Amino acid sequence: MKFLKLVKWNIPPMKIIQSTLIMACFTLAACAQKHDTVALGKAYFNGFGCKQCHSVGHDGKLYGPDLTYVGFRKNRQWLELWLKNPHSWKNNTPMPNFHFPDEVRSALVDYLSSLKGQDFKGSPPWNEAAFSQEPIKRGEVIFSRAGCVGCHGIKGVGGYPNNNVVANKIPSLTLVADGYSKEELMERIAKGKRPDKTDPSGPAPMIEMPAWGAVLKTDEIEALAEYLFSLRPPKAAGEEW
Ligand code: HEC
Ligand code: HEC
Repeated sequence: MKFLKLVKWNIPPMKIIQSTLIMACFTLAACAQKHDTVALGKAYFNGFGCKQCHSVGHDGKLYGPDLTYVGFRKNRQWLELWLKNPHSWKNNTPMPNFHFPDEVRSALVDYLSSLKGQDFKGSPPWNEAAFSQEPIKRGEVIFSRAGCVGCHGIKGVGGYPNNNVVANKIPSLTLVADGYSKEELMERIAKGKRPDKTDPSGPAPMIEMPAWGAVLKTDEIEALAEYLFSLRPPKAAGEEW
């Protein structure tokens, strides 16, 4: 996986960069307007080098999930928890623990929560001409850049954690072709779903399937459905549909 290569160089230099940046960021915090925590969070985001692994809009890298829609798909409570210690949620993640002071983390959460797609400025990468005749490829780009990948994994293989749900995992999507018609699948993506609790008296699952119809157009959801159907591994001889 592309992500993993980074772990090697990341950890030791990250410590040094981190302490330098914490100094710079505190100065910045002192100068920043008290109430504009979104702008402050954005400055931290740039200052801590999050863009070495993530992108927002057309700016940054894609070693980790694109964050342009992260404020739409992930709630504040989960973002808090993730930034506090990514490994407590997903023990094998290559994302470093930055050990943020509370006020830095809180400004970052304000910034991340504000990201609901506006940074694509009306021209998301999947609308490039190269994809206009290729719905499956277009769907793949939407899957990555709208951030399905942040919950369902690369190529929808699954394995990402959730709490108080079956197997404590967000489902894999490689076999949806077996269970859904195209219309049903599009409806499922558009409407989202709050997962059922396995223990009814336990806490609500922190991760929900967002209702993508609020931010994606019908043709985009259709391209996603085409892409998900294409993930079905070839049938073994004699296997029933
Ligand atoms: C070394 C690369 C790396 C760096 C640096 C990094 N991240 Fe991440 N981040 C990841 C990876 C990879 C994931 C996806 C989780 C996984 O697959 O293990 C992730 C996941 C996330 C998520 C959840 C994304 C989603 O789709 O739900 C958020 C939010 C996030 N990172 C924020 C940040 C912020 C803020 C910074 C800077 C302070 C940062 N990351 C720095 C690699 C990185
Ligand atoms: C914030 C995390 C999150 C993101 C991002 C996300 N999903 Fe989901 N998705 C879930 C969860 C949780 C479920 C399980 C819901 C349930 O219990 O029914 C789910 C279920 C699904 C299902 C039904 C799977 C099945 O086995 O019936 C489909 C299809 C799906 N997601 C597609 C997508 C697509 C396409 C995207 C991107 C546009 C996406 N998801 C983004 C969390 C997410």
